[in-house]
Amino acid sequence: MSRILITGCSTGFGQAIATRFLNEGWEVVATMRVPSPGALPQSERLRLLPLDVTTPSSIKACVTEAGRLDALVNNAGVGMLNVLEGAEIEKARELFETNVLGSIAMTKAVMPGMRERRSGVVVNISSSVTLRPLPALSIYSASKAAINAFTKSFALEAAEFGVRARVVLPGSAPTTSFGKNAVARMGMDVPEAYGPFVQAYFRTLQTASEKTDAQDVAKAVWRAVSDVDAPMMLPAGADAETWFREEGIAAA
Ligand SMILES: NC(=O)c1ccc[n+]([C@@H]2O[C@H](COP(=O)([O-])OP(=O)(O)OC[C@H]3O[C@@H](n4cnc5c(N)ncnc54)[C@H](OP(=O)(O)O)[C@@H]3O)[C@@H](O)[C@H]2O)c1
Repeated sequence: MSRILITGCSTGFGQAIATRFLNEGWEVVATMRVPSPGALPQSERLRLLPLDVTTPSSIKACVTEAGRLDALVNNAGVGMLNVLEGAEIEKARELFETNVLGSIAMTKAVMPGMRERRSGVVVNISSSVTLRPLPALSIYSASKAAINAFTKSFALEAAEFGVRARVVLPGSAPTTSFGKNAVARMGMDVPEAYGPFVQAYFRTLQTASEKTDAQDVAKAVWRAVSDVDAPMMLPAGADAETWFREEGIAAA
């Protein structure tokens, strides 16, 4: 039976991805900073393990405990919605530790096993905000652009050993707790001088008609894992698909 490890399964996309792979008959190692058994459907094929992707000892213990892995999904992440002048550098560092170095460290930790078995796939959750410059997202977009670049480059060396790497770019998903969690962890103290500009921008965000939901992300991750011919970058959600088309990026 194939086995997948997914980071950040306490809520949102991680929960939906874990549920999708359980429904597809996989063994799922669902990881959370604080494991919560009620977060996912009960299954004999489900294992919950603690994991904080910013802590090397936590990564080592989790990957050792998980054993053989056919797939890794680096989903854990945090957002930041603020102009640069409103952002604290310590918070930016925390965001990069989670979104970028956490995914890199997890990939490095699972790679020896995948390389030795000459099989496996790593899927990194990026964002469609990397397709277009948007205000009040410079630090978050930079972290996800780093993930795109990392994945594309890593994929070339991993392919030498039969291991694949892909990025999934979800659109905007207001139904997850992402925005609320971002504000709680990163703050949102917009400097007064930027107030009217940021307010006007937020209003345009609220009028967007196309959205992404967690099932769209689970579907794109399923394709990235199960279809060896899946493109390097996959959109998730109607808004992300529109942006791929408008930017001329093939996703077929
Ligand atoms: N929602 C959107 O609009 C959107 C759009 C594009 C891309 N994304 C990306 O999609 C991914 C999931 O987002 P979501 O919407 O599901 O957000 P979410 O509901 O806030 O979930 C984020 C998950 O990441 C976990 N996490 C945060 N820091 C962690 C750490 N240091 N170690 C391990 N886990 C950690 C959280 O765990 P705790 O519960 O312990 O904090 C939570 O399970 C993120 O990478 C995000 O950047 C989201």
